[in-house]
Amino acid sequence: MKIVKLLAAGLLSVSLANAQDVMQKSMSMMEEGMTQIQQGFLNNNVKLIENGTKLVNEGNALFSKKELIAQYLPAEKKHLANHASNVSKRIALDVNVLSLNLEEKAYIKASNAYSDILNACSSCHAIVRNW
Ligand code: HEC
Repeated sequence: MKIVKLLAAGLLSVSLANAQDVMQKSMSMMEEGMTQIQQGFLNNNVKLIENGTKLVNEGNALFSKKELIAQYLPAEKKHLANHASNVSKRIALDVNVLSLNLEEKAYIKASNAYSDILNACSSCHAIVRNW
């Protein structure tokens, strides 16, 4: 019995550790992506904006499932899992808007989409961190 419990506890901590890795990978990809997009806009470097947008998109996809996100919400915020996963959907939409506007050379619109992504980051962090 004891060994079963130990095994179960072990498995649980392994799966939590994996989730932790995925979360950290996702966040650091998005952080790097946002930095590149910002540098791209500031220095008028379209390639950098494109590359950063790709990173944000991939990072966001890693951390978009409601069940995964819910693991990171404080107990009293679990009911906001839907809202938090909608924030991830908002980032995915913004990424599309940013890319399409970039293709059209509509740089102001593209940079507005970048700003909305930044606001979306904060709106999930606000839940997670009790801001
Ligand atoms: C759906 C929720 C959610 C969204 C959206 C989100 N994050 Fe996070 N972020 C988290 C969680 C959970 C943590 C870990 C807990 C903490 O740091 O308070 C975190 C932490 C971080 C960290 C610190 C990493 C670490 O290892 O502690 C960075 C950097 C970060 N996020 C960047 C971003 C950027 C950039 C965006 C937007 C492009 C973003 N995040 C969007 C949930 C989110």
